[in-house]
Amino acid sequence: MDTTGVEELLMSMKKSWPGLFLHSANVANLSLRICNFLGLDELDRETMIAGALLHDVGKMFVKREIIDKPGPLTKGEWTELKEHPSRGASLIEEMGADTPLVEMVRYHHERWDGKGYEGLRGERIPLYARIIVLADSLDAMTSLRPYRAPLKVHEAIKEVHRCAGSQFDPKLVTALAADPFWRSDTYQNPARLERQLDKEKQWLVQLADSYATLSHPLVYAQSQWLDRLLTIFWQLKGCAKGARR
Ligand SMILES: [Fe+2]
Repeated sequence: MDTTGVEELLMSMKKSWPGLFLHSANVANLSLRICNFLGLDELDRETMIAGALLHDVGKMFVKREIIDKPGPLTKGEWTELKEHPSRGASLIEEMGADTPLVEMVRYHHERWDGKGYEGLRGERIPLYARIIVLADSLDAMTSLRPYRAPLKVHEAIKEVHRCAGSQFDPKLVTALAADPFWRSDTYQNPARLERQLDKEKQWLVQLADSYATLSHPLVYAQSQWLDRLLTIFWQLKGCAKGARR
């Protein structure tokens, strides 16, 4: 599967379901920063980005009323929803995607403890898929869903650490804790958050330089993330001022 195939799927997703496109771009952005932190090479990063962008492509086959349902799902609805990783994997396999890409899509709802969709456990889950699970969960937790309010970023990061060893690869979570991005205190202290904001701005410039277009999903996702951080930052600064009065 070449980049044109990835782009075509992505463009049809953007047109038919902008929210899914944004989520996919966010997951790609978060996955890429994990790859950079782990020092993965260019080829691995490219595969990772393609997998992250397409991880939920199978949701295009799921009825929207199931996805948007505010109440609990019926057994039949759950069955349909849980088929989206395998449907997405089959689709890209038919389009000629390589095994690592297909596996990322197929296994993006696995859990470290084996309680995920397919029951794969621990290191039997490909590393790329374990990275997507983490990125997918962080974006999902901090986004509005029909059935719940979004968590604050620092709360979601705490949740990531709490679920290390059950939902997430514990070694991966421990390694990432060396990066301020993956520490909850970064988002609760104005001085730390200001430093992180500077890094995020540089990251946006780098991405914009690399992709030479502001509409590239990664650049788009980074600008969204930056907006999110700026909002948290101004709220924190506002709170600090209020406390001094
Ligand atoms: Fe999914």
